[in-house]
Amino acid sequence: MKLRRWLAAGAVAVATVAALNVTPATAGRPYDPAAQSLRDLAIRHGLYVGTAVDMAVLNDAADPRYRELTASEFSTVTAENVMKWESLEPTRGSYNWGPADELVAFARQHNQRVRGHVLVWQNQLPSWLTSGVENGSISKAELRQILRNHITNVVTHFKGRIWQWDVVNEAVSDPWDNPSTLHYKGFWAQHLGPDYIADAFRWARAADPKALLFYNDYNIEAFGSGNPANDKTQFVYDMARDLLAKRVPIDGVGSQGHLGTQYGNYDTLQVAAALKKFAGLGLATAFTEVDVRSQLTAGVQAGDSAEINPRLQASAANFSVLLRACLAERHCLSFTLWGFTDRHSWVPGWFSNPPEGLATVYDENYQPKRAYQEIKADLIFAGPPYVLPRAVQTPRR
Ligand code: G3I
Repeated sequence: MKLRRWLAAGAVAVATVAALNVTPATAGRPYDPAAQSLRDLAIRHGLYVGTAVDMAVLNDAADPRYRELTASEFSTVTAENVMKWESLEPTRGSYNWGPADELVAFARQHNQRVRGHVLVWQNQLPSWLTSGVENGSISKAELRQILRNHITNVVTHFKGRIWQWDVVNEAVSDPWDNPSTLHYKGFWAQHLGPDYIADAFRWARAADPKALLFYNDYNIEAFGSGNPANDKTQFVYDMARDLLAKRVPIDGVGSQGHLGTQYGNYDTLQVAAALKKFAGLGLATAFTEVDVRSQLTAGVQAGDSAEINPRLQASAANFSVLLRACLAERHCLSFTLWGFTDRHSWVPGWFSNPPEGLATVYDENYQPKRAYQEIKADLIFAGPPYVLPRAVQTPRR
């Protein structure tokens, strides 16, 4: 073959490989996708795969595997607790940036992006703030100013180093709350009214023009009745639409993805349809806190495989539903696990009656579970025409 024709053929081959998202074999070694990390497999689709990080465990020299896997398997990290208000400002006016800065440095060292979690939430607030409001020493006007300062200080501190901020978290009630008609719930809505949401996005944008600004919530993986009085996904959709109509700089909606195998859950097409609907508003989406827990029945605790295996299988299937839906929607930018090992998961500490667990993709000894293999397979066996590279999301002004 003449050199020119050979070069042209080479260029076509390279272009074809790129278009199909195929990674070629390296010299002499056949390419084994199953031996790749989740992060390497995901980035072929432009997708970032992440985990929440417990900083105490990351720094535990007796548990080195946690640190190794956090670095090797994931391309984005989220602070499980250390960017929350009670951690950042335990005493009024004095910030404790240390652990959060450490995570950001870790991410930089391992070429990872950071999801900032969380600017405004009704949980894990410092007691000086909640008790000050309760005893009347902090007025409403002052509270608004305190919130504005907090957002400004935190976003400014991390400016340029946060990819996506969870600006407002879990602002909407659930159908089992009282009243059951969905409404804005919690400390901030109670004391400032729902306008704090628009304010928070505007203040965050003023402090960092480049971060993507997200609203984040649970139980919004798929649409239900379509009635915002009882369909939380619809309520959040309407909220996002109204914020956009008011030119509030919201860039995305984070769907947490805390599922349990004992519930009905969703199929992939339902979840994909929800992501598509949010994308229709011009918003990015992300799965931000995925885990799929199971009840630890007496049989599970006794090691009965007939009880354990179906749960591991169902858990894997649910991880897969969320990931495949995300892969199918170009505006779904990241897929973050809320912890990756059953050795360190919020679930057993939170759900004790009945006990629940087995929620993550590695077991307590860092052995990959079926869920890990299934999400790996999803990343491997995805590609055009239905799975395309991620869309570019530009921060709204
Ligand atoms: O820091 C104290 C420690 O000093 C004390 O010894 C220990 C004893 O209980 O508690 C420690 O605080 C715990 C903290 O996690 C840090 O480990 C709190 O009790 C515990 O309530 C807290 O739980 C966190 C929970 O948010 C609080 O709301 C979980 O780790 C964290 O995974 C969870 O994350 C949330 C997301 O932010 C939002 N979406 C839901 C998700 C799961 O609840």
